[in-house]
Amino acid sequence: VTFTARLGSEMLAALELARQGCFRVEPNPLVGAVVLDRDGSAVGRGHHDVYGGPHAEVHALAAAGHAARGGTLVVTLEPCAHTAKKTPPCVEVVLSAGLARVVIGAADPNDATAGRAAPRLRAAGVEVVEGVEGAACAAALARYAWHRGTGVPWTIAKWAMSADGRSADAAGASRWISGPESRALVHELRARVEAVIVGAGTVVADDPRLTARDAAPSGLPPARRVVIDSGLRAPLERRVYTETGDAATTVICTAAAAPERRRALTGVGVVVEVVAADPDGRVDLVAAFRRLHATGVRRALLEAGPRLTGAALRAGVVRQVAAFTAPVIVGGDTAPTPFAGPGWHLAGAPRLAAARASACGADALLEGYLGGPPAGPEPGPTAVSRSG
Ligand SMILES: NC(=O)c1ccc[n+]([C@@H]2O[C@H](COP(=O)([O-])OP(=O)(O)OC[C@H]3O[C@@H](n4cnc5c(N)ncnc54)[C@H](OP(=O)(O)O)[C@@H]3O)[C@@H](O)[C@H]2O)c1
Repeated sequence: VTFTARLGSEMLAALELARQGCFRVEPNPLVGAVVLDRDGSAVGRGHHDVYGGPHAEVHALAAAGHAARGGTLVVTLEPCAHTAKKTPPCVEVVLSAGLARVVIGAADPNDATAGRAAPRLRAAGVEVVEGVEGAACAAALARYAWHRGTGVPWTIAKWAMSADGRSADAAGASRWISGPESRALVHELRARVEAVIVGAGTVVADDPRLTARDAAPSGLPPARRVVIDSGLRAPLERRVYTETGDAATTVICTAAAAPERRRALTGVGVVVEVVAADPDGRVDLVAAFRRLHATGVRRALLEAGPRLTGAALRAGVVRQVAAFTAPVIVGGDTAPTPFAGPGWHLAGAPRLAAARASACGADALLEGYLGGPPAGPEPGPTAVSRSG
């Protein structure tokens, strides 16, 4: 095996380590690192494990100790070189380890540090090899690059429909279209995002709790429940407002919402965010998703009804889709589909990238991406639920 091929396989091993931080390190990127001694034996491994904790290379170098001297660091993301954060810049830690060589997978999408590590290392006499398994390493940064670049959370739209494409019956009943396995998977997803979003219509019709009560504990704080309700029309007696438990609730409205409704919600512990209105007087969705991002939401699950799901898709704030199709037929002329509002001509209709279908109990799950695929394989909801 040539040394170059060896570096590639060590980089893939570092990527596997990186994935262990999935849903724990955000808003930071997933990063893994392997240290080889001067003879090429792996003597230290590490990954960025939790937000605010040490970076991957720091863990790997600590594990390697003196064996790192004269050796090689293989790291999926260029070491950080900026000081505007909680931990010291990794590039200094790397330099003090006395390595001969640093092998980097992907550049950092963060402009504050992008491209700064390699010159600093080279100036200190360290050999730098860049772009090893670069596409795979960039893929592991897909969520990070998305929310950094767009300022909106990585949002997964989920919907469930009948075999004939209806999201509810003609009377509006939608419980339960999908089977228990699909619902359990949705709870797993809720446990791995920072916000679960619905529209006022779903809160009024279904009175959902939007908690991850059936999911195995993920160790993460419970997702915030977010209701998009332009005029604050959903009654205060709904469970998202009364059953507070651990999960906080945020409502996003426009300035046209009555002040006494706002006060009443604030009075029961709900956070009310006021954003701009769109030309129809409804919540401007880009403004709403930006506000969520500004308040720390990096991953969100949109579980709304046809109106909000359709509007969110048209606004371009949905990045990933999980569509469940159940073996039930609703029929009729008035039962809704998962999308209200204007559609697309087939030739220009949004098509899921990197789509794949799988079975979820007796339901079919179709997953994929909008706005193009991530640069390589990225775990979808099914993979996520299995990755623990
Ligand atoms: N099968 C499924 O997966 C599924 C999932 C959820 C719900 N459902 C079903 O969907 C039905 C409810 O549908 P829905 O469409 O009314 O629910 P929704 O999409 O959750 O809520 C729609 C409401 O969101 C508010 N909204 C605020 N800003 C908006 C914007 N920019 N664009 C669009 N809407 C905005 C609007 O109310 P304001 O104008 O008052 O703000 C709108 O009426 C129920 O029958 C429920 O059972 C099915």
